[in-house]
Amino acid sequence: MDTVDPASVPRRTLYTGAQMPAIGLGTFGSDHVDPEEMAAAVAGALEVGYRHFDCASVYGNEDRIGPVLRGVPREALWIASKLWNDKHGEADVIPSCRKSMADLQVEYLDAYFVHWPFPNYHPPGCSVESRSPDAQPYIHENFMKTWRQMEKLVDLGLVRHIGTSNMTIPKLKLLLRDARIQPALNEMELHPHFQQPELFDFVKANGIEPIGYSPVGSPNRPERDRTPDDTVDIEDPVIVSIAQRLGVHPAVVCIKWAVQRGQTPIPLSTKRRNYLANLQGVVSEPLTDGDMRAIAGIDRNCRLIKGQVFLWREGQTWEDLWDLHGELVK
Ligand SMILES: NC(=O)c1ccc[n+]([C@@H]2O[C@H](COP(=O)([O-])OP(=O)(O)OC[C@H]3O[C@@H](n4cnc5c(N)ncnc54)[C@H](OP(=O)(O)O)[C@@H]3O)[C@@H](O)[C@H]2O)c1
Repeated sequence: MDTVDPASVPRRTLYTGAQMPAIGLGTFGSDHVDPEEMAAAVAGALEVGYRHFDCASVYGNEDRIGPVLRGVPREALWIASKLWNDKHGEADVIPSCRKSMADLQVEYLDAYFVHWPFPNYHPPGCSVESRSPDAQPYIHENFMKTWRQMEKLVDLGLVRHIGTSNMTIPKLKLLLRDARIQPALNEMELHPHFQQPELFDFVKANGIEPIGYSPVGSPNRPERDRTPDDTVDIEDPVIVSIAQRLGVHPAVVCIKWAVQRGQTPIPLSTKRRNYLANLQGVVSEPLTDGDMRAIAGIDRNCRLIKGQVFLWREGQTWEDLWDLHGELVK
C-alpha cells in the first residue's frame, strides 16, 4: 500500500475536545530544503494520508505551502503555525498571525504557538555564537502581554488552540497560574536520546499535549546546531536492532515509539519513501512492551537544539536557557 487512510491514523484529544492527528509533517527545511521542495513534500504527504502540518512564519515557506493545502477540505486538516521571536510585541502578535493565515490561505489555524519564550531578534541562519544586543531573559510579565494577544486570537475566532514551545516547567507554572486561556499544546524536542520525562509528565498532567520536534534526532540539521557530544538516535544499537527485526529504517522506530509513548511527532522528510514509511509506521503493528522498555532505557539527555542565540549575559552557557535546577534563571 502506498497510501494510508487518514481515518486510521491515531488521534489526540485536546482539552477542548478537538481531535488532532498524532503525527504531523514538519516543514522546517533546516537551510537545505528550499520552499518549493518543501511545498512539494507537503503535496506528496497529503496524497499519502498526512493531515497535520507543523508550520511557522520563520520557516519562510508558508506562502508556498498555502496553495498546496487548498486541495483538501479545511476541516479535514490540522494546521499549526508559530509566532517568531521578534513579534512578541503587543501590536505585532495579531498581524503576524494574520500574515501566516494569509500565506497559508486559511480562515483559521488549529494551533498557534509562541515559538520561543525569548523575544530576541536574530537573523535566520546566523551562527550560534551571535548574540542579539537586546537579548533578555524570560520576563514573565512581558510574556503575559504576548499571551494576552494569543488569547485574543482565540476570542476573534482566528485560532482554535494556543500553545507554547521550548518552555520549561518553571515558565509553564507561571503561565498556567496566569493564563485566561490555557495552553493546549507544548512543542518540545523529543526523541529516544532526549525524552525529557519530567517535562513530558508535567505537560500531560496539566492537560497539555506534547508535540515532539526533531523526533528522528534531526540527522540533517545544520552544522551550527552540532556539538561534539551530540549522540545519534538512528545509530543506537537498540533502535537499530528493532528496526532490523521489523525491516524498517531506524527513523521509523523513533516515530512508532513517539506515538506509542503519547507524544505527537512531527518528522520532516522531503522523500516520499520516508514520509510514507513514517506514516505507515504509526498504523502498523505496535512495538512490543519489551521494545518500549528498551527504548525508555536509552535516554541520553542529549539536547540537540540548544538555543545559544538566546543567551542574554556574558559568561552564560546554553543550559541557563532551560532552567535545569527547577527555577527560572534570571
Ligand atoms: N518548535 C521548535 O522550536 C522546533 C525546532 C526544530 C524543529 N521543529 C519542527 O520539527 C520538525 C522536525 O524536526 P527536524 O527537521 O529538526 O528533525 P527530524 O524530523 O528528527 O529529522 C528530519 C530528517 O530525518 C530524515 N528522515 C525522516 N524520516 C526518515 C525516514 N523514515 N528514513 C530516513 N530518514 C528520515 C529526513 O531526511 P529526508 O528528507 O531525506 O527523508 C530529515 O532530514 C521541523 O521540520 C519543524 O517543523 C520545531
